[in-house]
Amino acid sequence: MRALVGLLLALLLAGGALAQSLPKDHWRQPLAAQGKAPALWEPLEQSLKPEDCGQCHAEQYEAWKTSLHAQALSPGLVGQLLDMTAPETRECLNCHAPLAEQAQAFEAARRQKRAHDPKAQGLAAAGIACAACHVRGHRRFGPPERASGQTGPSANDRPHGGVFRSPDFSASEFCAVCHQFSQDQAINGKPLENTLAEWQASPFAKQGLACQGCHMPDRRHLWRGIHDPEMTRSGLEARALAQADRARFELTSVRVGHAFPTYVTPKAVLRAETSDGRTAQHVIQRRVIEKDGEWTELSDTRLLPGQTAILEIAWGRARSVRFWLDIHPDDFYDHEVYDGLLAALPKGGPAARLIAKADAEAQARRYRLFETVLERP
Ligand code: HEC
Ligand code: HEC
Ligand code: HEC
Ligand code: HEC
Ligand code: HEC
Repeated sequence: MRALVGLLLALLLAGGALAQSLPKDHWRQPLAAQGKAPALWEPLEQSLKPEDCGQCHAEQYEAWKTSLHAQALSPGLVGQLLDMTAPETRECLNCHAPLAEQAQAFEAARRQKRAHDPKAQGLAAAGIACAACHVRGHRRFGPPERASGQTGPSANDRPHGGVFRSPDFSASEFCAVCHQFSQDQAINGKPLENTLAEWQASPFAKQGLACQGCHMPDRRHLWRGIHDPEMTRSGLEARALAQADRARFELTSVRVGHAFPTYVTPKAVLRAETSDGRTAQHVIQRRVIEKDGEWTELSDTRLLPGQTAILEIAWGRARSVRFWLDIHPDDFYDHEVYDGLLAALPKGGPAARLIAKADAEAQARRYRLFETVLERP
């Protein structure tokens, strides 16, 4: 009898957990078309356009608009898609503009020979639209209700038939479909994007601080990352120390939930310049190269959570040393991807123009942090 009660209880608990989980195929790529919206819905409720969601969810829309998720159908991406087949394009769009309706819109623009033109791209231009995370078969999904913590389906007499609320929205695994490559694509044991695995191994996973805790504080749809100087500064601590024979610059990763940086694309460089004109540097980056489809890792000097990078320079005859940290968020694209594409693409064509724009944007995104002058004691 006691065993039976135990079994019933276990079934009830499992049922409870399932009742608030997202459907297993929430992130099965490519995403299926939404189909027809209920005929009784207003056009505004039927719409998948972020600006229409924004009519009722202004706060999320205003924040999302400023995020890189909203700019994911970027010139650097589209410049490459123009020469691809529709199935190859869909592979990239799975992460950059994931809805089936966005792929259709992009292919429609391609048929009009206007795929390079944001005005012709329709819904595709929205990049990672609200609906990519929140809407399946026109049904809305979201996190537990903010005030009550309630999960499961809400009353369906609300706009867009209410919402299904699941704690899965607040978990790091929610972001993995696009931010974690599979282990069978590993280079030297680590996939090119290994962010979830890095987070799982970090102290933040043990503390229960998920991706959302740092990248969507108070549920704000900001997703600031290495392209934002304030965000990068928030994860690091810099110290300059005057020792008897040398000056020392230390950089510690204190609040980055994964390797700093997590991708192969950014480069961070600690730099020193003495008052008598000598310089030194220490590069923080995972360097990989691709040759004939084979990827090789050359080095990996990224900082895991808690780790410190050190740059030292002897005083010599100098009276002071200037230290700083340079960040180039798109170094790999700038030097490895775009330069090669620009050399290969027909000059002056739409693809070359988009890649040239991406290249200029990549260079303009460089910035400097923690600049300080240390006097000799
Ligand atoms: C006509 C106004 C309206 C439009 C348009 C609209 N929503 Fe909503 N949405 C609401 C209301 C009202 C609620 C609260 C529903 C409830 O409590 O059951 C809601 C709830 C939600 C929730 C759950 C939020 C919470 O408080 O728990 C999500 C997520 C959501 N909507 C996403 C979207 C997305 C994505 C779109 C566009 C594709 C959209 N909505 C379009 C009015 C709207
Ligand atoms: C598994 C998801 C995924 C797939 C598939 C994917 N990307 Fe990305 N891509 C990302 C993420 C995540 C970033 C952001 C990396 C960062 O933080 O800089 C990115 C960044 C980029 C960037 C630099 C930022 C920008 O938008 O200009 C380009 C260019 C790009 N991807 C092109 C492509 C192309 C071309 C394909 C298809 C061959 C592709 N991506 C497929 C996830 C993906
Ligand atoms: C990349 C995925 C993603 C995109 C794109 C996205 N959201 Fe969200 N949204 C989330 C996640 C994740 C949460 C829950 C965060 C948490 O639990 O900390 C959330 C929460 C919400 C909530 C509940 C907010 C609250 O305070 O309770 C609303 C409403 C919402 N999103 C609407 C939108 C709208 C509107 C857009 C487009 C303008 C949008 N979302 C785009 C992932 C996304
Ligand atoms: C549908 C795929 C997808 C999902 C889901 C997704 N992302 Fe992204 N994310 C991307 C792509 C693609 C980019 C790069 C956009 C660009 O620059 O072109 C990106 C960019 C970012 C950036 C900016 C990085 C930088 O270089 O500054 C952050 C931070 C981020 N995502 C965090 C998250 C978090 C946290 C979640 C989960 C709540 C999430 N993302 C869910 C695809 C996705
Ligand atoms: C403890 C806070 C924290 C947590 C947790 C966290 N991040 Fe970050 N993340 C940061 C900071 C700070 C940066 C800026 C510095 C950097 O790029 O590493 C960043 C940068 C990024 C970037 C920019 C690209 C790059 O190469 O660094 C992406 C993408 C990203 N995070 C995704 C995620 C995802 C996905 C998760 C969850 C698996 C996550 N982050 C968890 C703090 C956090």
